[in-house]
Amino acid sequence: ETCILIGIPVQAGTGRLGCDMGPSAYRAAGLGETLADLGHRIEDRGNLAPGAHAEKPHPNPALRHLGEIAAWTETIEAAAYAAAGDGLPIFLGGDHSLSAGTMPGVARRAAKTGRELFVLWLDSHPDFHTLETSTSGNLHGVPMAYATGRPGFAGFLPPLAATVKPENVCMIGLRSVDPAEREALARTPITVHDMRAIDENGVAVLLRAFIDKVRAADGIIHVSLDVDFLDPDIAPGVGTTVPGGATFREAHLVMEMLCDTGLVRSIDLVELNPFLDERGRTALLMVDLVASLLGRRVLDRPTRSY
Ligand code: ARG
Ligand code: MN
Ligand code: MN
Ligand code: MN
Repeated sequence: ETCILIGIPVQAGTGRLGCDMGPSAYRAAGLGETLADLGHRIEDRGNLAPGAHAEKPHPNPALRHLGEIAAWTETIEAAAYAAAGDGLPIFLGGDHSLSAGTMPGVARRAAKTGRELFVLWLDSHPDFHTLETSTSGNLHGVPMAYATGRPGFAGFLPPLAATVKPENVCMIGLRSVDPAEREALARTPITVHDMRAIDENGVAVLLRAFIDKVRAADGIIHVSLDVDFLDPDIAPGVGTTVPGGATFREAHLVMEMLCDTGLVRSIDLVELNPFLDERGRTALLMVDLVASLLGRRVLDRPTRSY
């Protein structure tokens, strides 16, 4: 497997500075070497940069850096489409607004190859705001709405060549959902699992149902992993900490089960803020999670049971 590392130092989508150091932190934490040790070929394509842009006025005056995010989105979509044709891209964020580019890019590649794309969204937030409903104005709160084709983005973010089908999206880990997002989610076929669902069922039960659905459709999986999916006690290096997150063991189990499917074709690592981290521990944890996702295991398992 060729893992293609793509740094995306965008931070205009978030309210705090520091996410632009994310790609460097993943490299310093040894992501490439770790994956090489697991037997993967590594191609580091360096960092993307947004094209020239002007700020655009929008009727919602809260929105920040819309022109810059539009420019990033166009660049990221093209890079994601290209990389998904060459190997397994790992997008090193940068804030979650980058998924407004990665998801449509890998969706366009999936459409071209005739595979059904599914998205596993591991996050405490659904990031399902439209440009109208965002009250914080931080555009890391909108990528899922945009990528699934919710209205209101035309003329502001690039037109979508391919959308992600909402019925193919599964969110796990939700615990911070704004009222407008909650109402909108109730009106979509997106599968949503909050922390209560994890506590009541165990994360394996929730994930197995998603994997079964992907298998039934002969689909492939894009994983979007937001650092704040994890409990802040183990992952402090993020601007939007929300208590009560996934544990170390839950997160590794998710990654190991995904590994066993062999169906993950692309990965977002988002919202790491090295300025807020403690001696790189969050970056190192994220690297270890990617290692579990891409083949590190404690014991050989005679049957590939997920
Ligand atoms: N829903 C909140 C907002 O719109 C939080 C979004 C957090 N998103 C993230 N990718 N961390 O501001
Ligand atoms: Mn700006
Ligand atoms: Mn997010
Ligand atoms: Mn989040």
